[in-house]
Amino acid sequence: MAMHVLVTGGPTHEYLDEVRYFGNASSGRMGVALAEAAARRGHAVTLILGPCPTGTLDPRIRLRRVVSARDMEREVLDALPSVQAIIMAAAVADWRPRVRIPGKLKKQAGGLVVELVKNPDILAGVGTMAAGRLVVGFALEAAPGEEALRLAREKLRRKRCDLIVLNRTGSLGREVGEDVVLLTAGAEHPLGSPSKASLAERVISWCEERAGRSDHAAGAWGDERHERARGGGAGDAGGGPDRPPPGD
Ligand code: CTP
Repeated sequence: MAMHVLVTGGPTHEYLDEVRYFGNASSGRMGVALAEAAARRGHAVTLILGPCPTGTLDPRIRLRRVVSARDMEREVLDALPSVQAIIMAAAVADWRPRVRIPGKLKKQAGGLVVELVKNPDILAGVGTMAAGRLVVGFALEAAPGEEALRLAREKLRRKRCDLIVLNRTGSLGREVGEDVVLLTAGAEHPLGSPSKASLAERVISWCEERAGRSDHAAGAWGDERHERARGGGAGDAGGGPDRPPPGD
């Protein structure tokens, strides 16, 4: 049975004036790969995409283009009631300039101090109102090995996700991930350096299995599943959503 899957992707741009913005190096390719994998597998897909090139998209994907984090939040909240799974692959800017200056800011002598204010955390907001929907987040970490895992576990709890995809900043702009790990409350599965297309297939398989709607015989984790020592080895596949308790 098909789901309606909401995917976010790409960067957000936070404008300082009419020509300059704060942004990041996200290519948007992960979001596009997820949307295409879900569409290929017969799911209805809404892709909410920040400013990035896409090429030709699968025509079955409903595309919503956005610029800023607040635009993205509006589109996510608009689509939320009709979806069964939310996959937040966007690299949302955490801050925006407090004011957007009309026109073009003139060059002045000396430097420039810009006041930034916090953007909404879209994923954390979705986590509080998921109401049985599957919530998948990404964690892009610069920290090495075990520390990155600790940060990703913390994100899983704090943002009330069902699944977190840990990726490293070294993968930015590359076709493959770096030391990618899938984490749930009960299990962790290292994937090495998968292509964006194969990582997307894994994530969509996981959603299908978790939603109990998979037509595939193989488990979403593949053969080698790594139970976490703590958490009692309850596992994560096959059951209903066991959303982690609210974090800090
Ligand atoms: N995210 C979001 N809204 C934000 C920031 C992040 O929805 N304002 C989502 C991203 O789409 C991703 C997840 O939260 O799924 C984690 O993003 P990441 O940049 O790794 O973490 P942050 O929460 O921004 O924390 P930090 O940058 O401090 O690691």
